Amino acid sequence: MHIPLNVDLKGKVAVVTGGGGILCSTMAKAIAQCGAKVAVMDLRKEAAQKVADEITAEGGIAIGVGSNVLVKEELVAAKKEINEKLGSVDILINGAGGNHPRGNTTNDYYSKADVDAEDIISFYDLDPNNIQFVFNLNFVGTLLPTQVFSSDMVDKEDASIINMSSMSAYHPLTKVSAYSAAKAAISNFTEWLAVHFSTTNIRVNALAPGFFLTNQNRDLLTNPDGSYTERSKKILNGTPMRRFGEPEELLGGLLFLLCKDASGFINGITLPIDGGFNAYGGV
Ligand SMILES: NC(=O)c1ccc[n+]([C@@H]2O[C@H](COP(=O)([O-])OP(=O)(O)OC[C@H]3O[C@@H](n4cnc5c(N)ncnc54)[C@H](O)[C@@H]3O)[C@@H](O)[C@H]2O)c1
Repeated sequence: MHIPLNVDLKGKVAVVTGGGGILCSTMAKAIAQCGAKVAVMDLRKEAAQKVADEITAEGGIAIGVGSNVLVKEELVAAKKEINEKLGSVDILINGAGGNHPRGNTTNDYYSKADVDAEDIISFYDLDPNNIQFVFNLNFVGTLLPTQVFSSDMVDKEDASIINMSSMSAYHPLTKVSAYSAAKAAISNFTEWLAVHFSTTNIRVNALAPGFFLTNQNRDLLTNPDGSYTERSKKILNGTPMRRFGEPEELLGGLLFLLCKDASGFINGITLPIDGGFNAYGGV
């Protein structure tokens, strides 16, 4: 993999939640290539292990850990294993996150016909349990790992937490109300954490990716035959660079924020990596 910035993470121990997924496996591999020892953590242990094995095969140091970011006891057990096998944690990437397909309205705009239709999820059909699922996964799933792993980081010379926000945090996207609100909470919480830890040498920043085709959005963005949905076409029209991002395009921003020499006074920001989506007014 091409590493866009020459950042030395040798001696650092990093935890990447959601590390078995598409964006975070790319990030885990990149920081391993920069010298960090990486705990690739995911609900899907096999996916985490596969990424860890790929890192090891390339000469890096990594372990795969199966752990649910919503279960504190599992995170505490994971920390014990990580501390024993890799050492004390310096970097946390809170990557686990996503949506719930039944947490979305079927259509963009209110229509009276949708309210009575059986096969359409209108605003009034949104089930609080599905909304709660999305809030928990994104917000509580960032809070709990931060509680568990930041205890290692406090008062080190250089420690970093990176959260995963989204374009939906700036202006909510149609259909995905819960996901949008949960990601807005992540940007807000990034600022809160940055302030809270500001005297401890832990910097807390976030990335706000634009649109990248991954597992968590595949159903919204592609049809079963692989062609783009109408929503994808709207996204591409709203992205001045007229394309989806590639996971590797997150790496420059990630490594910059992890490098104290380059970004040591940058704290509490959410960095858009979005092909201009957030800058574009649509006209
Ligand atoms: N793909 C995009 O366009 C995009 C845009 C903005 C933000 N994001 C965010 O980036 C992050 C990574 O997403 P991705 O697109 O690579 O999706 P992905 O579905 O490929 O990866 C998400 C990973 O999180 C894991 N996960 C889910 N629930 C978990 C839990 N409870 N505990 C531990 N792990 C869990 C999944 O198993 C999966 O491997 C997410 O926070 C997502 O919301 C993605």
